[in-house]
Amino acid sequence: MTLSTASVLQPVGNPVAPEGDWLDALADGLSEHGWLSLDARPLLGDELLASLCEEVQILDRTDALRVAGIGRGLDKTRDRSVRRDKIAWLQGETAAQAGLFQVFETIRCGLNQQLFLGLKRFETHYATYHPGDFYRKHVDSFQGRASRVVSVVLYLNENWQQADGGELQVFNRDSEQEICGRVSPELGRLAVFMSEEIPHEVLPANRTRYSVACWFRQDEIPLPLSL
Ligand code: OGA
Ligand code: MN
Repeated sequence: MTLSTASVLQPVGNPVAPEGDWLDALADGLSEHGWLSLDARPLLGDELLASLCEEVQILDRTDALRVAGIGRGLDKTRDRSVRRDKIAWLQGETAAQAGLFQVFETIRCGLNQQLFLGLKRFETHYATYHPGDFYRKHVDSFQGRASRVVSVVLYLNENWQQADGGELQVFNRDSEQEICGRVSPELGRLAVFMSEEIPHEVLPANRTRYSVACWFRQDEIPLPLSL
């Protein structure tokens, strides 16, 4: 008799060590300011970043990304005056995604250890903004749920120039009109912020802008209705 075994996916890249200065930097930035950005190239490695870039560009070329909505479930609307990106959810099913999932899992555990956030899981999608696309000022957590707690965006654009636009503009959590930072979506850069607290927007891009967005959540996976 032969047993069929599930093929074991070898993640791209090396798992990140759970104790690193970068995890301290993440926790400090989040607790002191509610957000930070950092160059994660040393942490993710060139190989993983190149694989993720390739994957999102293939999805874009083959029209596999879908217009993103606002809100959840039945409330979901597709309002082109608010956001114009296209997205594809990641399931961790390619070697590149498995490598990235390891990093996200390290972040989840590290933030739980340092900030006691009780993050149970994450959800993540690729996003592309074509020239002219934007995402108006918003916060990431749906009102009254507090389920998305920490947002992470990883940028996948080599040699991004100021003239390419598409920066992430971050607003002060206490005085909403005050801009407190702009993040250029350069390859390997991470923007990390508290999902409910930090208003932010994506300025119109002048060249196609690729990224991965990830949300760490405090709730469990909802059970299917039939159970
Ligand atoms: C989002 C978002 C920011 C970015 O997808 O909710 O705000 O810089 N993304 O892509
Ligand atoms: Mn957002």
